[in-house]
Amino acid sequence: MLLTDEETKMLNGDNGPAVRKAMEILVALGESFGAERLVPVNNVHMAGSSVLVAEEAGTRFVEDIRNQGGKFVTRVTTNPTAVDPSQWKEIGIPESDTALQVRLTGAYAGMGANTCNTCIPYLVGNMPRFGEHMAWGESSAVVFANSVCGARTNREGGPSALATALTGRTPEYGFHLTENRYGNFLIKVETPMRDMTDYGTLGYFAGKIAGQDTPVFVGLPNNPTLEDLKALSAALAASGAVSMFHAVGVTPEAPTVEAAFGDRTPAKTLVYGVEERTQCENALNKEPSDHVDWILVGCPNASVQEMREVAEALEGKKVHKDVSLWVTTAGAMYAMADQMGYVDTIKKAGGVVVRETCPFLARSRVIAPNKGYKTLTTNSAKMAFYAPGQFGLPAHYGNLSRVMQAAIDGVWR
Ligand code: F3S
Repeated sequence: MLLTDEETKMLNGDNGPAVRKAMEILVALGESFGAERLVPVNNVHMAGSSVLVAEEAGTRFVEDIRNQGGKFVTRVTTNPTAVDPSQWKEIGIPESDTALQVRLTGAYAGMGANTCNTCIPYLVGNMPRFGEHMAWGESSAVVFANSVCGARTNREGGPSALATALTGRTPEYGFHLTENRYGNFLIKVETPMRDMTDYGTLGYFAGKIAGQDTPVFVGLPNNPTLEDLKALSAALAASGAVSMFHAVGVTPEAPTVEAAFGDRTPAKTLVYGVEERTQCENALNKEPSDHVDWILVGCPNASVQEMREVAEALEGKKVHKDVSLWVTTAGAMYAMADQMGYVDTIKKAGGVVVRETCPFLARSRVIAPNKGYKTLTTNSAKMAFYAPGQFGLPAHYGNLSRVMQAAIDGVWR
């Protein structure tokens, strides 16, 4: 790889041991992917911010970097943690995780991170710009940034994102290069898209087929909401390893089909109709009984608009006494929803607005048996996909109004 004088100095240790270690990681990564150079980056979203992922060893690694004088030279935001700092005990998060999480979050903050602890950094002050080179972890946010914002990032792991934050560089390969950003195959959407759950179901369908490829959608409405696009992004990165999609007439690099494919021929064309949608809904809706005990809204983290919809569904009603309703969101979203009175309405009805964590990044294999949860009910295709394998709970999957009705009735209809 060709390094600038400044990068060579970093690699030689002129900027201290933390930066040298970071450069070694980036050069090794770049060489393994055939990158010719590093590109300047001023935007990192750190995925390794939950102690469920980092555990003691990862936490010590980050602490060591900080103790060696590590300082972030880019904007850095952090993904959800394993802990809601204000109500961990009530919602069943193990005490041992809270102390470790304070250490890990403290180490990131000590190096200059904005510890917003959310998977929707683009809604809390880290909005990517078109064409911006970044190093983001969190697969759902990566797809959103590449596709909806037109920014350029690969799916970074914890160490490589940390290395970029310390150096302001990332290897130029993959989605940083224009030739890798074109679509590979076409999906003709031939069924109405009624709400964000439909977008999640479409993402699940396309992700299963895509692997690491980039799907191009035609036939989507030209006015999807932000929530629709985040649901689509999350599901694509759950059932597949997708980093980017194009929606013709919607996303910035796909004004036309030809632009989305860069004048290449699609490898295949698939139709997504009512039959395909129903098959996917059934595949995600794995729990055969009508039993409901744990309900999750907010994967990816809930926007203020979603919390408004939850509050409206609960207005003057009560969550069933045998049901725990979690609405997971960022601290900043919580503050806005609180100001609007939505948090109060949800709490009065018996729901919990959970901050800075989610069932996937909290220790749900401990929480669920301790609380007696046997199923997970959700409007998120990503959460419904992961719940059975990740924490052993079969899922009920449906749109928000169906999920909220289950919260009130205590049964899945
Ligand atoms: Fe976010 Fe957790 Fe879902 S990190 S995308 S709420 S699995």
